[in-house]
Amino acid sequence: MRIGVLTAGGDCPGLNAVIRSVVHRAVAQYDDEVIGFEDGYAGLLDGRYRALDLNAVSGILARGGTILGSSRLERDRLREACENAADIARDFGIDALIPIGGEGTLTAARMLSDAGLPVVGVPKTIDNDISSTDRTFGFDTAVGVATEAMDRLKTTAESHQRVMVVEVMGRHAGWIALESGMAAGAHGICLPERPFDPADLVKMVEERFARGKKFAVICVAEGAHPADGTMDYGKGEIDQYGHERFQGIGTALAHELEKRLGKEAKPVILGHVQRGGTPTAYDRVLATRFGWHAVEAAHRGDFGKMTALRGTEVVMVPLAEAVTELKTVPIDRMDEAESVF
Ligand code: F6P
Repeated sequence: MRIGVLTAGGDCPGLNAVIRSVVHRAVAQYDDEVIGFEDGYAGLLDGRYRALDLNAVSGILARGGTILGSSRLERDRLREACENAADIARDFGIDALIPIGGEGTLTAARMLSDAGLPVVGVPKTIDNDISSTDRTFGFDTAVGVATEAMDRLKTTAESHQRVMVVEVMGRHAGWIALESGMAAGAHGICLPERPFDPADLVKMVEERFARGKKFAVICVAEGAHPADGTMDYGKGEIDQYGHERFQGIGTALAHELEKRLGKEAKPVILGHVQRGGTPTAYDRVLATRFGWHAVEAAHRGDFGKMTALRGTEVVMVPLAEAVTELKTVPIDRMDEAESVF
């Protein structure tokens, strides 16, 4: 069998662990040939690829990023790929394509699968927002990075009696904010799923200071919005990939709190630090298992599906089911976090 693999969309710790696992399983177990397309679907459309043998994936398990490169696909190019799906498989002689990516990549994978390409998807995203899988690799690493950052910010905040507003990633789903905020003992958490009122945060900080506590840490997801009429904060424009260009909620909220509290409030934007660097042990294991199961699925001819974690088992779920809705944070999970503020 000849298998094509690619990584698309925003990168994420653990991508290399999947690539390595695919190559090991395919080559060692089945004597397959594996090729890696460069820079996501762009490499597939432009015919840029390289052979991946055991040597090519040696030493990459713990490496962040992706050795294949990644990119987001513009809608026009996706249409082009779908129109040529049958030719693509024939031109490259591939019997299976394993795209590793988030919501956008898996939606494209589904369209390519519907257009006739034999596809087995592997979900990834630090946001953990893909329905049908309990976890995506990369999330554990991102939560660890954000938690460590908040632990560190607490000590400096206390020395200077400051409020720290820590902005973490999470466009539509606040999983990173929820879990890193809980793990770090943040005093406020703002999620995209529930508009917040800055007045509640002001009250929380004032009560803390009245109790003799001299600092506060607030964890805010980049996609969080204030409730209507509570604070000046506009919605951003939509870019060519269909994503809102955020206006910087961390900075806006820190300024707002400083104005209302008369205390120093500092914004800290963690940004892509959460996506870089070595994956945690958990993410390496999950990524390796997903790669193994993707190759098995390809050999069974189980196409149009993606790997998913259900409890502790890796199962295959239809791509159609996986990309219909985002997995957002249920409100009762927020209640659990708030009980310890
Ligand atoms: O989807 C993963 C993600 O990291 C989001 O949390 C974030 O909004 C987005 O990607 C950032 O994308 P880019 O790297 O294109 O700025």
